[in-house]
Amino acid sequence: MDNQTKLNRRFFMKGAGATALLGGAIGGLTLPNTASAKGMGNVSMSMAYDLNEEFNRIGAGDSKWDGIRRRWRPFNVPFPMGVADMDFRTLPHITEALMKRMGHQNWGYQPAPSDYYDNIIAWNKKRYDQDVKPGSILNCLGVLDGVLSILKTYNTDGAPVLIQTPGYSGFFGVVRNAQFSDIENPLKLVDGRWEMDYDMMASQIDENNIKVMLFCNPQNPTGNCWTADEMRRMGDICIDKGVLVVADEIHCDFVNKHVKYTPYATIGEKYAQNSFTLKSTSKSFNLAAQRVGYMFSDNQEMIDTVRRNGHQRGSLNTLGMIACNAAYKHGATYMDDMQAYIDGNCHFLEKFCAEEMKDVKYKVHEGTYLAFIDCSRVARKLGDPEGDQRVGDMLQRFFIEKAGVNLNPGENYGHNGVGYMRMNLGTTHRKLHGALNAMKAAIEAI
Ligand SMILES: Cc1ncc(COP(=O)(O)O)c(C=O)c1O
Repeated sequence: MDNQTKLNRRFFMKGAGATALLGGAIGGLTLPNTASAKGMGNVSMSMAYDLNEEFNRIGAGDSKWDGIRRRWRPFNVPFPMGVADMDFRTLPHITEALMKRMGHQNWGYQPAPSDYYDNIIAWNKKRYDQDVKPGSILNCLGVLDGVLSILKTYNTDGAPVLIQTPGYSGFFGVVRNAQFSDIENPLKLVDGRWEMDYDMMASQIDENNIKVMLFCNPQNPTGNCWTADEMRRMGDICIDKGVLVVADEIHCDFVNKHVKYTPYATIGEKYAQNSFTLKSTSKSFNLAAQRVGYMFSDNQEMIDTVRRNGHQRGSLNTLGMIACNAAYKHGATYMDDMQAYIDGNCHFLEKFCAEEMKDVKYKVHEGTYLAFIDCSRVARKLGDPEGDQRVGDMLQRFFIEKAGVNLNPGENYGHNGVGYMRMNLGTTHRKLHGALNAMKAAIEAI
């Protein structure tokens, strides 16, 4: 057996142990009570879910843990904080619903659960007062699958697609997959918050004959929850110039306490009519691998056009739909707790940077569990990157080799991301603290 096989086998056995434990426990799975109690700091949590549990993900073959460890061998990477998923045990109701369906050992064609669309509608109505029209929901194999269909339907003259940057790296990929190019519309840093530059946006649209803009709210990676005023200013430009707004709101369930998430499609009828919204339970309940999402629009004609153009996903993966359904049906308290927990992580990171790791700058952001931290001082201390390495590649290597922490290079999110790193806070307080201590020691040793 070569080394790699041995390692894989060891990883697998660890994972198998975890699975066996889960299997054993599932019969007596206790669903949470929602007794109110205090969580960390002044954040109120239900205590129904133990988000402090150190859940072992090693050995399951996932991208964030196993993938990163494989890529960076021989470095151990005990703190993988790159890939945008979370380290927590998922909502027990999801596991329970999946186990129940697994027990029925037949996998013939199956439509969505009968209350599937009702639960999508109820979640958005209850939490965000957003009306999703029943007939307007189209299933997607994830949010990017929906974005791809929209681009292929609506960017018919092949114009570049506008992406606000720093912006989600997957946007660049999906635009490329659709055989289009992109134009970066840079956000500007104003008093520590990334703001839209409306004049620049308008002129870029004119100069490049833009027809579609990919918009993200809450925004990955800056964490902005855009205000209604900001979105109206942006939306007016788009409507005026005939640009379709594709609002990716996959991170909408992660909103820190001091802000509010406003769905783009709720800021006014004309904005709703000129936009698609895309959402999923994949971030909120860590169901990314289930490949389930949805899009909708108040503009039924646009929805029908996308469907007619080939986006036909009448039914999705059975387990994915069951997981999504259980999440929206039973997950409100879990999500509230998760928000409070992530809010706590954001504040902890801010305090740690301000008091103990002054070479990294970070101010509590608004939404998502992703922090876009300014590491430009660390980069300056490290000197010039070697060869064709980017600054972010140099920083990534440094934090992996010297601290065992994986962060994503800021350049992945656009040209103005240089010097920044994206840090995933969807993990336990303990792991976050461990990662920060390790980063601090590594920086001090430069
Ligand atoms: C803003 C944003 N959109 C879409 C995705 C990917 O979604 P999906 O896996 O459902 O295609 C991500 C994942 O990180 C994301 O951050």
